[in-house]
Amino acid sequence: MKKGISLILLQLFAVSLMAQKNLPVYLDDAQPIEKRVEDALSRMTLEEKVKMVHAQSKFSSPGAPRLGIPENWMSDGPHGIRAEVFWDEWNQAGWTNDSCTAFPALTCLAATWNPEMAALYGKSIGEEARFRNKNVLLGPGVNIYRTPLNGRNFEYMGEDPYLASRIVVPYVQGVQANGVAACVKHFALNNQETDRHGVNVTVDDRALYEIYLPAFKAAVTEGKAWAIMGAYNRYKGQWCCQNEYLLKDILRDEWKFDGVVISDWGGVNNTEQAIYHGLDMEFGTWTDGMKSNASNAYDQYFLANPFLSLLKSGQVKEEEVDKKVRNILRLIFRTTMDRTRPFGLFVSQEHSLAARQIAEEGIVLLKNDRSILPLNLDQTKNILVVGENAIKMMTIGGGSSSLKAQYEILPLEGIKNKMGSAVTVDYARGYAGEKDTQQDGLRAADIVDNRSADELITEACQKAKKADVVIFIGGLNKHAGQDCEGSDRQELGLPYQQDQLISALAKANSNLVVAIISGNAVAMPWVNEVPAILETWYLGSEAGNALANVLTGQVNPSGKLPFTFPVQLSDVGAHSLGDFPGENGEENYQESIFVGYRWFDKNKIAPLFPFGHGLSYTQFAYGKATVSSPKLQINKTLTVSIPIRNTGKKAGKEIVQLYIGDSESSLVRPIKELKAFQKINLAPGEEKIVEFEISMDDLKFFDDRYHEWIVEPGTFTAYIGASSADIRSSVDFEL
Ligand code: BGC
Repeated sequence: MKKGISLILLQLFAVSLMAQKNLPVYLDDAQPIEKRVEDALSRMTLEEKVKMVHAQSKFSSPGAPRLGIPENWMSDGPHGIRAEVFWDEWNQAGWTNDSCTAFPALTCLAATWNPEMAALYGKSIGEEARFRNKNVLLGPGVNIYRTPLNGRNFEYMGEDPYLASRIVVPYVQGVQANGVAACVKHFALNNQETDRHGVNVTVDDRALYEIYLPAFKAAVTEGKAWAIMGAYNRYKGQWCCQNEYLLKDILRDEWKFDGVVISDWGGVNNTEQAIYHGLDMEFGTWTDGMKSNASNAYDQYFLANPFLSLLKSGQVKEEEVDKKVRNILRLIFRTTMDRTRPFGLFVSQEHSLAARQIAEEGIVLLKNDRSILPLNLDQTKNILVVGENAIKMMTIGGGSSSLKAQYEILPLEGIKNKMGSAVTVDYARGYAGEKDTQQDGLRAADIVDNRSADELITEACQKAKKADVVIFIGGLNKHAGQDCEGSDRQELGLPYQQDQLISALAKANSNLVVAIISGNAVAMPWVNEVPAILETWYLGSEAGNALANVLTGQVNPSGKLPFTFPVQLSDVGAHSLGDFPGENGEENYQESIFVGYRWFDKNKIAPLFPFGHGLSYTQFAYGKATVSSPKLQINKTLTVSIPIRNTGKKAGKEIVQLYIGDSESSLVRPIKELKAFQKINLAPGEEKIVEFEISMDDLKFFDDRYHEWIVEPGTFTAYIGASSADIRSSVDFEL
């Protein structure tokens, strides 16, 4: 009997060996991927190829079923895995198993200044995507923060190309370790929502290469991103999804990108350019790709029947569709057809913990006079929480990044849970925003309040007078015109008379903590009236817990701003020069490379809070910076060192920033630019020497006269500081 079983097993083994031997090359994962790509391609008909290069539903595109090659399934991105929608409608399909973990917004991730947090983020969201059988995650976004009015800034990583690069690479790697492609978006120059489908950006090559492209380049060349999404806007007169210069010259030729270029949804505008300029896949927002309903909609896409007819008639060579299909097959082999990829994980304790850790590390303590934070719970018997954002869901809304989260701990809830019975927590609305309770087909808690602003302010102030501490939780939200895709903000100021409310609260109770929930800088005319201010971003599922942990000091805040907070709009380059949002569809980036702190430095404008700013519940003393050698030799490195000591009584993390300035150059350069940073953990009294290695690459600028990164000999200064405006020590060296 036993013998019989062994024989059968042996036979099965032999059969499977034979089967493996006869496997077509494309199914044999022992074969090199390029060989498999060519083999699969050689077996496909023209019709099968054309089907592959455009959508078949809102978020999927066909594989080649005859050959057993699976479909591609995508999902937004970038803060969690979006709920399932109907095949051909934007409405949610009403599944009961698609409520995800909501991770903090990417501005918060950037504010951690911690590549380890980015790796954790990428790994976790990648696991959620994998579990949900998505092979492309539509994110992360790395468009540079050019103006605080951009409605989508919350989905991006701030104003500095170096910081964004250091954060995007581990995010991409973390996602892709799951066999899920990260689709980095929106390539490129998508820095506003106003007229986003039409606006033509004019920018000089220096700003393009030094400011707007580095994070994309890092994602592609270091992170090895398998997909990239074209932007809606135009550049050099061509839509970015079919832009020869961006997609062919830069992405393919300069960066050697071998992944898939996916159009933004409805971002393709004509067949010819879509064929020849480097796009691989067309997706659409409306049923006919551009406008409204039509039958056989997907067949009408620019890269569908119109493409097929051109191929069939011989007007376009088959090689053009082959180029696209090669990239798509490579994507499929890297993802769905990689049999070794892990299985993913969805809504787990690990993911909640990851979301909370990232949130806690990203919260920025902007101001803390009288050390009013952390709350002194021995002396606090009652707390008043004020503000709509304390009770408003923020995982819903904002456009395509809107999520159906399995849960979201709201700030008021988080604070109440944390305080337990020892402290009384009362609540006053203070202000009321939009009246609609429905967003993206989901109910965002019933929080309509029809009282007038005066009534709400009066009530809040009366209660504030009786409280030991008042915590105001306001800011922006995910409605159109605020932090939301599809439109830009109209002003820097807070909406719904919050400024008036905050000033009134400050008069009613001097122990006022202001927590701003936003993905953008806001004006703070009351900045000198309140002792403590926190920027708390959109924090996802664990929002309330993370905030409560920082308020009580269980977590010592360690985030720093990834963008400058201006006092007023006219302090920002794009606004000062009057470009934004462009005229007659033309937007000229006249400020060139002077974006964010580069502009503030150059024009000696004092920001409200500078790039890189963030306080801690402890203090750090910076020693004197020294350099390992006074001269940087060609192709060598030198080390800049500085001792940092925790002089306070609590353990804490400090983000030590290194900026470099060039004393003389043939082209104008910023006073200084971020070139390195380290986030270090110090126990009370502990000192560490932080070392930064500097190479010639850190001294280069993009010389548009030669289209090359160049370095010129001379004197350079390494500035080390706690923010871009708080330089603690500097040291010169020569090249
Ligand atoms: C957005 C993209 C998003 C896509 C799919 C577009 O409107 O710009 O960021 O990934 O929709 O939802």
